[in-house]
Amino acid sequence: MSFTVAIDGPAAAGKGTISRAVAAHFAFGHLDTGLLYRAVGAHTLDGTPAVEAAQALVAEDLESDALRTPAVAQAASKVAAIPQVRAALIDFQRAFARRAGGAVLDGRDIGTVICPEAEVKLYVTASAEVRAERRYLELEAKGLLVSREQVLADVRERDARDMGRSDAPLKPAEDAVIIDTSDMSIEAAVARAVAVIEARRD
Ligand code: DC
Repeated sequence: MSFTVAIDGPAAAGKGTISRAVAAHFAFGHLDTGLLYRAVGAHTLDGTPAVEAAQALVAEDLESDALRTPAVAQAASKVAAIPQVRAALIDFQRAFARRAGGAVLDGRDIGTVICPEAEVKLYVTASAEVRAERRYLELEAKGLLVSREQVLADVRERDARDMGRSDAPLKPAEDAVIIDTSDMSIEAAVARAVAVIEARRD
């Protein structure tokens, strides 16, 4: 039996951590859909046209560590505004959502476009300043040289592009439960997500 949890929200709000924890808790499969756009973005940085890269994407493309850099994140946000790129990635995401045993998909348009019938929709957010600080600490821990100002500017630029595009803009689904993690520990945010899902499963 399928059971889909859609988790959307802006960059560095805690979606990834919450999605992984929820998937582990319920033994659901997890798809970080941002990786699809990052993999396409990475191919464009190598010179491949975006639509061609999206149509030729294979599972191994999602496994590279190089997808986690700020340059690839910006490239991902740019290719994500191209309707033919989004269209090429829909079937894979919908098939994953229907897998037996349950699925968690996190991204920007899961509850609004990819899985509007999802049993649970969460919208995980936090202030731009809090998200930028978290992303800065992550990048610093990986040894990447960036300034706090640059990370905040990147977060704001990506928010504006992801929320402002005409195809599948980032916004909460009407029936999404909003989790604002600005002043929440990760444990509290995960506990809230688990509680919402448990309530829907009953
Ligand atoms: O979640 P992330 O930071 O890895 O996503 C990278 C970019 O991909 C993000 O800025 C916008 C795009 N994206 C999208 O448009 N739709 C999704 N479902 C997931 C990501």
